[in-house]
Amino acid sequence: MPKKLSPPELMRNLTIGYWIARLIHVAAKLKLADLLKKGPRTVEDLAAAANVQPQALYRILRALASVGVFAETKNGRFKLTPLASTLQTGVPTSMHAWALMINENWGWDAWKELLYGVKTGEMPFLRAHGVPLFEYFEQHTEDLQVFGESMTSISITENPTVPAAYTFSGIQTLVDVGGGHGSLLATILKANPKLKGILYDQSSVIARAEKDQHVTAKGIKERCRLESGSFFESVPKGGDAYIMKYILHDWNDEECVKILSNCRDAMTEKGKVLIVDNVIAPGNNPSWGKLLDIQMLIIGGRERTKKEFAALFAEGGLKLTRVVPTKGPLSIIEGVRA
Ligand SMILES: C[S@@+](CC[C@H](N)C(=O)[O-])C[C@H]1O[C@@H](n2cnc3c(N)ncnc32)[C@H](O)[C@@H]1O
Repeated sequence: MPKKLSPPELMRNLTIGYWIARLIHVAAKLKLADLLKKGPRTVEDLAAAANVQPQALYRILRALASVGVFAETKNGRFKLTPLASTLQTGVPTSMHAWALMINENWGWDAWKELLYGVKTGEMPFLRAHGVPLFEYFEQHTEDLQVFGESMTSISITENPTVPAAYTFSGIQTLVDVGGGHGSLLATILKANPKLKGILYDQSSVIARAEKDQHVTAKGIKERCRLESGSFFESVPKGGDAYIMKYILHDWNDEECVKILSNCRDAMTEKGKVLIVDNVIAPGNNPSWGKLLDIQMLIIGGRERTKKEFAALFAEGGLKLTRVVPTKGPLSIIEGVRA
């Protein structure tokens, strides 16, 4: 039975969380999981394939194996574990792009400014980079590509929970506002064969979605239109539902009200907005949302409580009708015209 850790031991382990995160980032950069796809390999063999130093690679793999990512075999080779398998590219459960994106140096530079942010109330990302996140991406197109792919990879487990929890049968046209590469919209369209969709995002992202597998798949592309623009200016007109996953959490209240008002203006008389985000609950339970909230603090957004969503809706001329939980961490917050 594992020994129960004392508070100082537990605290030591918590303080080194970033060591593990950074080790996983290195493994993702070197595509070690892909190199082990065909079976266990020696460190020398792996190091030659990855073009790195064998001794350092051994220590990295040994440390990762100590937390369940990769395993050392009895004859001194390394192999995939179920956790390490998620770092492969091109598999349905791939977390590779997320593991790359979430620990890139541009993100670390912004986290370094968290203390400054809490002291001054200013946005750490702006302090680190001089521009907000989505403007940064317009200037760094490789980072934008990885960001888009990372959103798809983190959505793998989340997307199916949305059509499983919410009935889309009364809806004819669903607009995915800020829909990224379109993986959520494609999942919902697949589950609802009569539904039509519009994928809406910035032009640089729509150009990528056009080449990605989701809304271009047979059976989906015939029912799906792609449009580009800024949701601060307008959103496509005439939809009877506007879904936004991981959108409102990126922005401050004033910016969210602008987005919601634009959806309200564009939607049909009985139209709905469907916000897919964390709804922060009271209490001290472990929570993806409460940690993600700090990432949002860094970029100028926030995760919200039900009461905070209701207030945003009211400001945007909408009324919160219900919060539908999903089997994952996210909920669907439904609103109609007030
Ligand atoms: C956190 S991602 C969420 C993507 C997708 N909804 C998902 O859950 O995977 C935020 C999305 O908002 C888009 N976005 C940011 N600013 C925008 C704007 N002004 N107009 C339209 N889309 C925007 C980004 O390009 C990105 O695709």
